Amino acid sequence: MALSKPIGVFDSGIGGLTIASAIKRKLPQASIIYFGDTAHLPYGDKSATLIKGYIRNISNFLFEQDCGHLVVACNSASSVLTNDLLPAGYQSVLNVIDPVVNRVVMETGIQTVGVIGTRRTINSHVYRNRIKKQSESLLVKELATPLLAPMIEDGFVRNSISRSVIHEYLKRLGPVDALILGCTHYPLIRTEIQEYIGNDVLLLDAPDLIADQLVKENDISPNQSGTDHFYVSDFTESFEQTAQSFFGASIHLEQRSIHPK
Ligand code: DGL
Repeated sequence: MALSKPIGVFDSGIGGLTIASAIKRKLPQASIIYFGDTAHLPYGDKSATLIKGYIRNISNFLFEQDCGHLVVACNSASSVLTNDLLPAGYQSVLNVIDPVVNRVVMETGIQTVGVIGTRRTINSHVYRNRIKKQSESLLVKELATPLLAPMIEDGFVRNSISRSVIHEYLKRLGPVDALILGCTHYPLIRTEIQEYIGNDVLLLDAPDLIADQLVKENDISPNQSGTDHFYVSDFTESFEQTAQSFFGASIHLEQRSIHPK
């Protein structure tokens, strides 16, 4: 399929920029329209009903911006995502859970897989259920780690506080052969997690898997401009500063309110 229309990427906030950045690295010619729902952040502690309403409104907005592809770059949103929430007409829709699940079940030699994420993601058991559907024998250990996302957003990475929080959580999880980083923010503490858990444990997260899937499924059309827009539902300077560390380059955030139809 030709990727001739922009790729819509959305998250509860700026964490999904880790996904947008991986897409941009692998598909520099593609145009990305990003929407971070900073007015409603965090999704991880919200009800499924509320998040479904946000998905409906944002996916409509991105479709109206002429996006042909939608990437739901938020684990909490992906855990409650159903097709009936989306406008008909997207050429493809990707969530951040399935590529990781498909990858982990392909691995040989893994018996126990851990999953960490927000309360919404973990309490939905979405990873466990989808893994078990494909590989009944895998033992899945789930742990909600709600302190990690705000900690990372506040810049607490690679210091004594982040190390203590990570160690305390991972101690509770116990030994695993693979660990799924089931939240958009966690790529920023991937190295710290790997250092604690050891190089023998396979760490899995969505950014590169999503980008690879877009590359595999689509031909980039030469008429793409490669121009990106980064919208947020609530703008603050601190969001713009933090956005840099998630995207890996300085970007300009534009405020845009979405009104339900
Ligand atoms: N983007 C969310 C996720 O991946 C984390 C932040 C939040 O709770 O909204 O689950």
